[in-house]
Amino acid sequence: MGYDPGLKKLIATVEASRADRIEAVKRGEHYPRLTMEEIDALLKSFHPDFRADAKRELGVGPNKGAVYPNELVDVLESRSRLDPTEVDLERVDYDVDLLIVGGGGAGCSVAIAASDAGVTDVLVATKLRLGDANTMMAEGGIQAADKENDSPVIHYLDVLGGGRFANHPELVEALVQDAPLVIAWLEKLGVMFDKTEDGTMRTLHGGGTSRKRMHSCGDITGAEIMRTLRDEVECRPHIKILEFAPAVEIIKDEAGKAAGAVLYDLDRDRHLVVRARCTVISTGGFGRLHLMGFPTTNHYGATADGLAMAYHAGCELVFLESSQFHPTGSVYPEQIVGLLITEKFRGAGAQFLNVDAEQFVYPLETRDVASSALIRECAPPEKGGRGKGVTTPGGRVGIWLDSPMIEILMGPGTVRSDFPGKFRMYDNHDIDISREPMLIYPVLHYQNGGVAIHADASSKDIDGLYFAGEVAGGIHGQNRLMGNSLLDVCVFGRRAGAAAAAQGPTVELGPLSLAHVRAWDEEVARAGLESELAAPILFPDYRGKVM
Ligand code: FUM
Repeated sequence: MGYDPGLKKLIATVEASRADRIEAVKRGEHYPRLTMEEIDALLKSFHPDFRADAKRELGVGPNKGAVYPNELVDVLESRSRLDPTEVDLERVDYDVDLLIVGGGGAGCSVAIAASDAGVTDVLVATKLRLGDANTMMAEGGIQAADKENDSPVIHYLDVLGGGRFANHPELVEALVQDAPLVIAWLEKLGVMFDKTEDGTMRTLHGGGTSRKRMHSCGDITGAEIMRTLRDEVECRPHIKILEFAPAVEIIKDEAGKAAGAVLYDLDRDRHLVVRARCTVISTGGFGRLHLMGFPTTNHYGATADGLAMAYHAGCELVFLESSQFHPTGSVYPEQIVGLLITEKFRGAGAQFLNVDAEQFVYPLETRDVASSALIRECAPPEKGGRGKGVTTPGGRVGIWLDSPMIEILMGPGTVRSDFPGKFRMYDNHDIDISREPMLIYPVLHYQNGGVAIHADASSKDIDGLYFAGEVAGGIHGQNRLMGNSLLDVCVFGRRAGAAAAAQGPTVELGPLSLAHVRAWDEEVARAGLESELAAPILFPDYRGKVM
């Protein structure tokens, strides 16, 4: 396939401008960064979070009155998919010390940490297979301030700046303090980080970082971390794994403590009751809700299940008014639309260029800013944009990401060696990204907010309940920085595992109850919000839709 003659002609313009741009980089010059005032105006005009018609008020539950994206409100206002009368809570299928719902990076980190702390009775229940999660899809890296010119304090300031200063400080402190420990832990478990010949970790910048602290494993960092964590979980015999068994509601005891969950056994079409002294929800985010019709980088199971269950149980949600649109999702060829093109390309020197091969934004602005600038560049003038995107043969619009610059700045062969995943992906479509740029456009990537937690990952609202990974909120404020998600799944996963291990022996559970589910359904009915949808939805519905 490759590029058609029309796109090849435009690529010639990109190539013609490359030498000057390379010289400028060598002189230490870069496209000017925006001022705070300019950022504010840009976000308000072009960031999808600020599209008034894309949001509405939530009509039920602890966050009633909050204004969230329509697709999320649809899920949060739905009745439960579980009819409590169909479940016999007296018949317990699994009685465990610790139930972990979700088998991605966070869930596996919880299991390992709890097992290290002596918990011998752990059940990991996962909707798909162990490791089918956004962690597996993460590419560019994991942040940690472990170099001499860096410190957790500087990392802390970067995270706050990236989050538009809205982050919960105690969670940011936990994130950055634990980061160097997490890198050492992952390495000990077997993660093969990129290193120089003398064994020093290779680190790069991500958007919004003031130090090079992005540790990577090529451009498949998440897959390497997930591989390692999954292997570790699978080789610990006292960790039971139940695949294709998503949780559909949290169970409480009659005193209101978390006491496990009802699972839905997808293979046998039946419910399972798990009674647990402590319960950790690590179900990931909501990318597959496709807010505003955006394609997503997320895995198939990212359907806000944890948010729905937590909300039905009475947990407060934070920062869900803001979502992360990654600036670089592929828009060409059609077969790979929406797939993530890692920010690491820009950390290594790739630049954004419009249809006239002009730069229009500093490549390492934070994601909210870069995405807004790309949307403005592509939007037609009648919508306030600049109309300078590149139209693909499929009718999409995109911006060039000039990856061949990396080859010139860092040496021949670097794109192939440092970005093996993306090199192969494009090579399958006859595009050599060490010689030709990629066409990209913002794509739905991350749920910035989630369920309110304390620094040990425990719920702010329900005793015995923990949240780790993308389902939890407050860490990243209004916008997460690259590499802090792989970090947060490990930091708060480990913290949840340790805290649950300490709490477990003190927990006395009373009779199990789903009264809160009945109460939820009644509240939805009273509010007149009943719809076709029942939550958690578990799987996206693509019938009749083109993304
Ligand atoms: O661009 C990326 O590699 C994505 C990383 C992240 O979301 O942390």
